[in-house]
Amino acid sequence: MMASKISPDPFCLLLLSSLIITCPLLGSSTVSQDDRKSYIVYMGDRPKSELSASSLHLNMLQEVTGSNFSSKSLLHSFKRTFNGFVVKLSEGEVEKLAAMSSVVSVFPNRKKKLHTTRSWDFMGFPQEVQRTTVESNIIVGVLDSGIWPESESFNDAGFGPPPIKWKGSCQVSSNFSCNNKIIGAKYYRSDGIFYQSDVKSPRDSNGHGTHTASTAAGGSVSMASLYGLAMGTARGGVPSARIAVYKVCWSDGCWDADILAAFDDAIADGVDIISISIGFPEPRDYFNDSIAIGAFHAIKYGILTSNSGGNEGPGLATISNISPWSLSVAASTIDRKFLTKVLLGNNKTYEGVSINTFDLQNVMYPLIYGGDAPNITGNFNSSYSRFCFLNSLDPALVKGKIVLCDALGSGREPFFAGAAGVVMQDEGAKDVAKSFPLPFSYLGTREGGNILSYMNSTSNYL
Ligand SMILES: *[C@@H]1O[C@H](CO)[C@@H](O)[C@H](O)[C@H]1NC(C)=O
Ligand SMILES: *[C@@H]1O[C@H](CO)[C@@H](O)[C@H](O)[C@H]1NC(C)=O
Ligand SMILES: *[C@@H]1O[C@H](CO)[C@@H](O)[C@H](O)[C@H]1NC(C)=O
Ligand SMILES: *[C@@H]1O[C@H](CO)[C@@H](O)[C@H](O)[C@H]1NC(C)=O
Ligand SMILES: *[C@@H]1O[C@H](CO)[C@@H](O)[C@H](O)[C@H]1NC(C)=O
Ligand SMILES: *[C@@H]1O[C@H](CO)[C@@H](O)[C@H](O)[C@H]1NC(C)=O
Ligand SMILES: *[C@@H]1O[C@H](CO)[C@@H](O)[C@H](O)[C@H]1NC(C)=O
Repeated sequence: MMASKISPDPFCLLLLSSLIITCPLLGSSTVSQDDRKSYIVYMGDRPKSELSASSLHLNMLQEVTGSNFSSKSLLHSFKRTFNGFVVKLSEGEVEKLAAMSSVVSVFPNRKKKLHTTRSWDFMGFPQEVQRTTVESNIIVGVLDSGIWPESESFNDAGFGPPPIKWKGSCQVSSNFSCNNKIIGAKYYRSDGIFYQSDVKSPRDSNGHGTHTASTAAGGSVSMASLYGLAMGTARGGVPSARIAVYKVCWSDGCWDADILAAFDDAIADGVDIISISIGFPEPRDYFNDSIAIGAFHAIKYGILTSNSGGNEGPGLATISNISPWSLSVAASTIDRKFLTKVLLGNNKTYEGVSINTFDLQNVMYPLIYGGDAPNITGNFNSSYSRFCFLNSLDPALVKGKIVLCDALGSGREPFFAGAAGVVMQDEGAKDVAKSFPLPFSYLGTREGGNILSYMNSTSNYL
């Protein structure tokens, strides 16, 4: 049987979110328009000439593509705060463009992954700290997966109109509007491809952008919890700051072209600081890295970019946003644990790690070892079923019982086999609690071994 306990620290969830989907767009380099890949052509500072940026970019394109020129291949022009464009090119055209004296770099429009941020209390910024009224003039530009405007964290009660310096806008639709907390919002998708789970508005359908925006600048929301877990006050670092939303991440990831377009706008819109929790698994050359380029032009306008350290640790050299003109923030651990108790029939208890939102109501359930419940008709033996691999368990044996498995898994197999709960044991790190579809506790091998001995010592174990 199991019960949940957490330490009483204020609400803050560590989300290790990432979107990993293979890229559907990269074809071979034949010359038909559709087979061309999209590239970023980066040209440094904002153009000073009278000629508009877009026509300058079209002229350059015409020069390199000649009779194959199509204005439709120009997907976006950066022009508000720096110079460059997004364009579909063949490999030969890339070489010609890269050789032009006005071009700094040409690099493929690649996809980045979402990262996340971490609790203010843990950083030593307590809730009671004295705040100043200037904080309400701070505009935090958040480049992420959008925002869920109905969240209580973005309630604008008590907020005046946006600061006068704000020049941005809100992409209003039937189901999205801004307020005096979320003062601007816009979405970016240069290739115009939207998948089924994508919402074509600044609305967040992933959760990551809402999480990062509220972590940076969400208002205080008391009694926040996950089904009673982690009860406390949810709040951002600067609860009275304003939020400007730049949605650049979609169900297939976050593309360089959209990240750069958002930087271009955020800088021109008048944000004070940019928060971006996005990155590659490994660092890229600065001239080929949309975040490094965007952050560079931001700091030229006095706007600091705050990057996430990423989720690739704890190995060495796993931070991808490393430009010296930006700030990267990494969390090395968390300051509380989500524990789920396991109580045996001999009254011994063990505390495992999991985000367990289920309550077994103090009822004791029989225990069974996964290794003793193989799906024999499916040709599985104990070597498989001890790990509770997919299809490896016999539902007739595990139904209504708590299953002990020898490795951390998703809990899916015991769930489908009708188990009442799962205890998993292995030597893995226990610093991040995960959630599962049924009552679950994750133990070390010492505790797991004790449970196995207990099961061996009695024929009537619970
Ligand atoms: C236009 O495309 C054709 C292939 O379809 C290629 O042979 C030709 O060199 C291209 N022209 C220019 C000016 O790039
Ligand atoms: C930048 O990208 C271009 C185009 O893919 C590539 O040729 C170049 O080697 C890259 N530079 C670095 C330093 O990675
Ligand atoms: C907008 O869409 C979301 C998600 O589908 C829904 O929860 C919300 O109620 C909608 N709001 C309005 C005003 O239609
Ligand atoms: C376990 O504790 C309960 C309540 O304290 C007690 O009634 C029961 O006899 C104990 N069982 C064993 C096996 O010690
Ligand atoms: C047993 O294994 C077979 C083969 O993988 C599978 O088709 C079947 O669904 C499994 N039975 C159960 C109850 O999981
Ligand atoms: C389980 O089956 C595999 C091959 O299918 C075999 O290598 C292994 O020894 C078996 N394990 C047991 C405990 O019989
Ligand atoms: C439980 O008993 C079996 C054989 O009866 C033995 O192989 C196994 O090592 C025992 N496990 C523990 C943890 O005592």
